[in-house]
Amino acid sequence: MTEEPHGLDRGLTNYGDRDFARYLRRSFARSTGISPGLLNKPVVGIGMTPSAFNNCHRGMPELVAAVSRGVLAAGALPMPFPTVSLGEVFLNPTSMMYRNLMAMDTEEMLAAQPMDAAVLIGGCDKTVPAQLMGAAQADIPVVQLVTGPMSTGRHRGQRLGACTDCRGFWARYRAGSVDAEEIAVVEGRLAVTQGTCAVMGTASTMACIAEALGMALPGSAAIPAVLAERLVAAEESGRTAVALIGSGRTPRTIITPHAVENAMRVLMALGGSTNAIVHLAAIAGRLGIAVSLDRLNAISDETPVLVDLKPVGEGYMEDFHAAGGMGAVLRELRPLLHLDTTDVTGMTLEERLDVPLDWVDRAVIRAAADPVSPVGGLVSLRGSLAPDGAIFKRAAATPGLFEHEGRAVVFTGLEDLSNRIDDPDLDVTPEDVLVLQNAGPHAAGMPEAGYLPIPRKLARAGVKDMVRISDARMSGTAFGTIVLHTAPESAIGGPLAAVRDGDRIRLSVAERRIDLLVAPEEIARRMQGFTPPPAPARGYKALYRRSVLQAPEGCDFDFLKGQAPSLG
Ligand code: FES
Repeated sequence: MTEEPHGLDRGLTNYGDRDFARYLRRSFARSTGISPGLLNKPVVGIGMTPSAFNNCHRGMPELVAAVSRGVLAAGALPMPFPTVSLGEVFLNPTSMMYRNLMAMDTEEMLAAQPMDAAVLIGGCDKTVPAQLMGAAQADIPVVQLVTGPMSTGRHRGQRLGACTDCRGFWARYRAGSVDAEEIAVVEGRLAVTQGTCAVMGTASTMACIAEALGMALPGSAAIPAVLAERLVAAEESGRTAVALIGSGRTPRTIITPHAVENAMRVLMALGGSTNAIVHLAAIAGRLGIAVSLDRLNAISDETPVLVDLKPVGEGYMEDFHAAGGMGAVLRELRPLLHLDTTDVTGMTLEERLDVPLDWVDRAVIRAAADPVSPVGGLVSLRGSLAPDGAIFKRAAATPGLFEHEGRAVVFTGLEDLSNRIDDPDLDVTPEDVLVLQNAGPHAAGMPEAGYLPIPRKLARAGVKDMVRISDARMSGTAFGTIVLHTAPESAIGGPLAAVRDGDRIRLSVAERRIDLLVAPEEIARRMQGFTPPPAPARGYKALYRRSVLQAPEGCDFDFLKGQAPSLG
């Protein structure tokens, strides 16, 4: 029996002569100055994502060095390699459009390069989902490491953290209670260290989900980016990857239907980002595991919100870590979790949770018997406006608007929105429902435009929230009574495209419904002759438009979805 090639001998380049390929590879590898002895060791690839366009990954070089240290100490060769990096606020039209590109890059580089295991380092919103999507089908073990959250800044005695406070101050600036001079000062005090946004936004939610899935080391999700402890976790991630070599513990053995359901529970208990449900659907979808919106509602109704963090509550990620982090949340959720899942260390969740925590700060992470809210943060809605579903973050909405009927004020796209929202002549009242069309995956790459601003004249009159509906997403750091991810989207002829100014729209969170109160025949009449917006002619954007699925399927590409796992 011939032994499976390992290390740099894996996946030799095709020249039609394997010995030549091996000799050539080793010759070129020696040009890096690594000793022949070390070149014979097992290889751990380190997927790194530094970029001057990604401030959230500023600590990447130190993390790569720490992972490398762990790999070397455990007797293997660390081989860092770059992939696409996505800095949330530096991408046009939206980072979401490039998540699938990064996932493809990650998947292909894991498969094409010679490594026996890998550590993937991400952090900013789309990077961890992209890496988990890319890793899902890998034939080697993979450990996810995150860059960790930012620490808070201070402004006139107030703690500030990106980006819930960015939005709070901007809303006050639009309403006229903060002037131009102060907003310029605040700009420099919102994002003051390396790391990801300081609240339970998308990046932190996805870090916690990576841990809940078992793909990141226990306790590693929330360690602040600036702490020495984060480098220790990086070193340990390197050691763990080496220990996994030859174990067969690949991502597909860790990301099971039970692990996905645990992640959904955690998402609810965190009051986490709406984006996470799209990303989780995409990660699970790579393995043929469905994330059903009906199951989401059942889980939401059974799972309390335990974490008192912005944007839903008061604290910041540094408080969450100090309070006990994911370990404390998982212990409170224990009766609701599948305990047979395993993580990258090989431990079952039951074994992990059998070890008691020494202390939990109950001001930040509540006991299940004394939750922030007795039900989960997110629900899905259906109805004549969203036959395939929509998402609503009840934890971040105004309860007085949960049962609401109002007149539609329609914006036909992002440009129309920015041209008219602050028009003093806009016919709008606080009871109206703001509707944004053509901001879904096909139309616009699904930007975070669902947090439609309150029209300036209403903001100045003190209006803080209104019902808003779109096929877009919303930043995980945002809040408001906002219906998102409406599917099918308007650009492929979903009913959202049929809404006209003055139509009545009814939201009922109790009934989980969002309805356009217009006769079906009239909706059909309006949709006659519907034409989708023109598609890009070439390049990645053309591929994206051709292949992107709707939000309930994670906005993945149709050709990347996996087969359902076999039962038994
Ligand atoms: Fe990177 Fe918020 S901008 S996590």
